[in-house]
Amino acid sequence: MTSNKLKNKVAVITGGNSGMGLATAKLFANEGAKVGITGRNNATIKDAVTSIGNNAIGVKADVLDLKSIDTAYKEIANKHGKFDVLIVNAGVFKGLPLADFTEELFDEIVDINFKGAFFSVQKALPYLNDGASIVITSSVVNETGMATASSYSATKAAVRSLARSFSSDLLERKIRVNILSPGPIETPIFDRLGMPQENVDGMKEYMASGVPLKRLGTVDEMARGFLFLASDDSSYMLGGEIVLDGGMGQL
Ligand SMILES: NC(=O)c1ccc[n+]([C@@H]2O[C@H](COP(=O)([O-])OP(=O)(O)OC[C@H]3O[C@@H](n4cnc5c(N)ncnc54)[C@H](OP(=O)(O)O)[C@@H]3O)[C@@H](O)[C@H]2O)c1
Repeated sequence: MTSNKLKNKVAVITGGNSGMGLATAKLFANEGAKVGITGRNNATIKDAVTSIGNNAIGVKADVLDLKSIDTAYKEIANKHGKFDVLIVNAGVFKGLPLADFTEELFDEIVDINFKGAFFSVQKALPYLNDGASIVITSSVVNETGMATASSYSATKAAVRSLARSFSSDLLERKIRVNILSPGPIETPIFDRLGMPQENVDGMKEYMASGVPLKRLGTVDEMARGFLFLASDDSSYMLGGEIVLDGGMGQL
């Protein structure tokens, strides 16, 4: 079933080959959007494009390489036209006890999650239609403390701030920038930590126990939030935030 909320719109999703980005790309295509996704992994980009359908296009782009973002946007715009929606979603979750933190890890997290998000918006400016909607993926931890994850949480607070300033920067073009802040969501992000599966499962159980709803969120629950922010349903909202966290940051 579709309500065609994005009929004939062009939607670009960074980190659209995995997790909540992929679920969002599928929902957007089902809602009529011409979708372009980016990510780092050629094989999963290819599979994702097939599963998204509706003539979706996928381009490899690492947000650590700013030129590759530009090249990817150009390629998507050449095929689909200028963008009505940009979901800045690529990100990593990594942590270490504070005493063990390294400069390399700090730089990696900040460069992908904060600098990457900043330039994923800036590089898109020539390709965005006036009136476009930009959504950046933050996290419930943008307002709460989390042991071992100080730099991750700080990047998510930084992008929360970007949505306000970017919305001010882009007022004349009526481009809205908003934030979606998930709680813990069942995605491959935790499998990438390099831990044994039983530790990953234990971590997820621990996280779920801290959520008032006592479960992780699903990628489809996130996709519906992205759809609200991407579509005209949120036309009076800018510089704002939707928190989809099972009550974790609120109760
Ligand atoms: N899952 C959660 O509990 C949770 C909670 C709050 C916020 N978030 C945020 O939600 C967003 C999506 O994460 P997810 O949970 O769906 O995890 P995921 O399945 O691991 O997806 C992460 C996506 O980001 C892409 N990515 C990572 N580093 C990149 C880089 N340097 N350049 C380009 N793309 C890059 C990945 O591409 P490749 O697969 O090609 O590497 C992948 O598509 C992230 O910003 C994350 O911080 C997640």
